[in-house]
Amino acid sequence: MIFASRFSLLALALAVSAPGIALAAPPPQGLFMDNCSACHQATGKGIKGAFPALAGSPLVQGEASIVVSTVLNGRAGMPAFKDDLSDADLAAILTYVRSSWGNKAKPVTAADVAKVRKAPPSARGLQAH
Ligand code: HEC
Repeated sequence: MIFASRFSLLALALAVSAPGIALAAPPPQGLFMDNCSACHQATGKGIKGAFPALAGSPLVQGEASIVVSTVLNGRAGMPAFKDDLSDADLAAILTYVRSSWGNKAKPVTAADVAKVRKAPPSARGLQAH
């Protein structure tokens, strides 16, 4: 955690000191460390009986809209992130999660997230099409 906060500060310092670079987005691993690792762990393995593993999870590697809606809206003990994360940040986190710890799934784009965010509540959590 000390590492994570130093990492964010460094990213912030870099972003502030390089105002010419408009796309100084925080690195996705830092976003995961800040928002998700307290429960799912830096290893993506979670904590047995409390927080499910994201490493090897079929849901994580399945249809993008399902994993996006899980994180936007939360589920049981999992908090909703729709008010805390932008489309771009959530896309970066999920792309990182889907391609780390042996996971192999296509990137998630900000457009994917925006689409699910706009979906009516009745469509939440349902398989697309
Ligand atoms: C406060 C703890 C906590 C935090 C922080 C948290 N989660 Fe979770 N997450 C959970 C719990 C608990 C579940 C299981 C929910 C259930 O039982 O339905 C879960 C489930 C999930 C699932 C479904 C996994 C599966 O295989 O069904 C995904 C995907 C997920 N979380 C991603 C994330 C991401 C990405 C973040 C960061 C943006 C995050 N979580 C932050 C607690 C957390």
